[in-house]
Amino acid sequence: MTEGTITVAYIAASVLFILALGGLSNQETARKGNVYGMTGMLIAVLATVLGAKVTGYGTVIVCMAIGGSIGFYLAKKVAMTEMPELVAILHSFVGLAAVLVGFANYMDETIQFEGAEHTIHNIEIYLGILIGAVTFTGSVIAFGKLKGIVTSKPVLLKGRNALNLGMLLLCIWLGVSFIGAESTSGGMLPLILMTLIAFAFGVHMVMAIGGADMPVVISMLNSYSGWAAAATGFMLSNDLLIVTGALVGSSGAILSYIMCRAMNRKFLAVISGGFGTSGGTVASSGDGEAQGEVVPISAEETGELLKNAHEVVIVPGYGMAVAQAQHVVSEITRKLREQKVNVRFAIHPVAGRMPGHMNVLLAEAKVPYDIVYEMEELNEDFPDVDVVLVIGANDIVNPDAQDNPSSPIAGMPVLEVWKAETVIVMKRSMATGYAGVQNPLFFKENTRMLFGDAKASVEAILGSV
Ligand code: TAP
Repeated sequence: MTEGTITVAYIAASVLFILALGGLSNQETARKGNVYGMTGMLIAVLATVLGAKVTGYGTVIVCMAIGGSIGFYLAKKVAMTEMPELVAILHSFVGLAAVLVGFANYMDETIQFEGAEHTIHNIEIYLGILIGAVTFTGSVIAFGKLKGIVTSKPVLLKGRNALNLGMLLLCIWLGVSFIGAESTSGGMLPLILMTLIAFAFGVHMVMAIGGADMPVVISMLNSYSGWAAAATGFMLSNDLLIVTGALVGSSGAILSYIMCRAMNRKFLAVISGGFGTSGGTVASSGDGEAQGEVVPISAEETGELLKNAHEVVIVPGYGMAVAQAQHVVSEITRKLREQKVNVRFAIHPVAGRMPGHMNVLLAEAKVPYDIVYEMEELNEDFPDVDVVLVIGANDIVNPDAQDNPSSPIAGMPVLEVWKAETVIVMKRSMATGYAGVQNPLFFKENTRMLFGDAKASVEAILGSV
């Protein structure tokens, strides 16, 4: 392939990636957005592999076959609820790739720059490896936290801020000696030391982040993986990698900002860690301890209440995704709407385990888009609602976020479901949600608990509506 054809292919791929991002911003166009993204990536891979710089076709084909098969298998097998873990581990691959490419590039003796160009190239290598290393270990820990193999509670070392600052200063000092090094062998030691520090920093940073702040961390790691790719693009003088990395980096940064706003948190406070703590130790605000009596309700009684209501709001959460109850919920909605009950869905921005998790499930179950509302669109309406069905949600409907300043989730905006006439909470037990805090909603006078797996419960409700 000639240089000119490659440039045209890269421009086409960049345009397709931008269209993909545009498509993904809306449920109705999301599928199309995915197709744009996949086509763009296919063009990008083909143009790169067929370019003049690639010669070892045997190795490339074998590696692509192995990587492609693993990716295909994982994507086929992954359950919707495991998607955030998969995304986190894929971010870690981007980070690791940036580290490996950085080292390979530094050791490549055929790449020769002089003067200012040499310094700029070394800065690109240093930054690419630094961001890549933080992204790699940070994403591995995020994967562990989401999978439940690493504690979701913040792990806070004494003097953690000083430790972070110390690591940052060390990286700057090592960077100066790396860039000033006369030879490759002279620069190798500071580069390796910085990589080890960056690995440790990634672990330390994400370990300190607890429960409900994970959405911000995931989008932040998404952004880092983009910047790592962009830095690699500069290193390799690959324009498409720069554009794609910058797109991922900036969209991830915007998502982090949106998540911070949704959680009413300052970005720096999230990064410095410790959400869910007070005074340096993990807050015990009702961690699992009972706060009174709960009133159970049966599925039949729930069905009766729903049929006799005028205004119903459904609040889906992580438990609905686990139970895969969305199709039956959609069927209940259809039946109630036939009976002239006004049914609406209220979506909290961090419901579930990934941005847009509930929207995806509801779209899959063909719930009409026009009855799905964002939190702020519906929060004021709850006093006029007859019945709220909370399906496998917990943290996002916790009144302590507003009422208890010492609560680990204090300040996080929540759906004010308790203002409705009756709230029915569907879950299996009195267990806490992801943030690990007890929920006073369950003990309110107008709350009824429908215990059991959400799918079994909604099937029983469907039988009676
Ligand atoms: P959670 O607070 O995690 O509560 C989910 C509830 O669902 C649990 O209390 C659980 O109670 C119940 N449940 C689980 N499986 C169930 C099943 N099969 N049937 C019925 N109920 C079931 O979820 P949420 O309210 O959606 O809030 C999301 C939380 O995750 C927030 O803290 C958020 O910060 C965090 N988070 C969000 C994201 C994103 S980007 N959305 C990413 C990472 C973390 P039982 O065990 O008693 O059934």
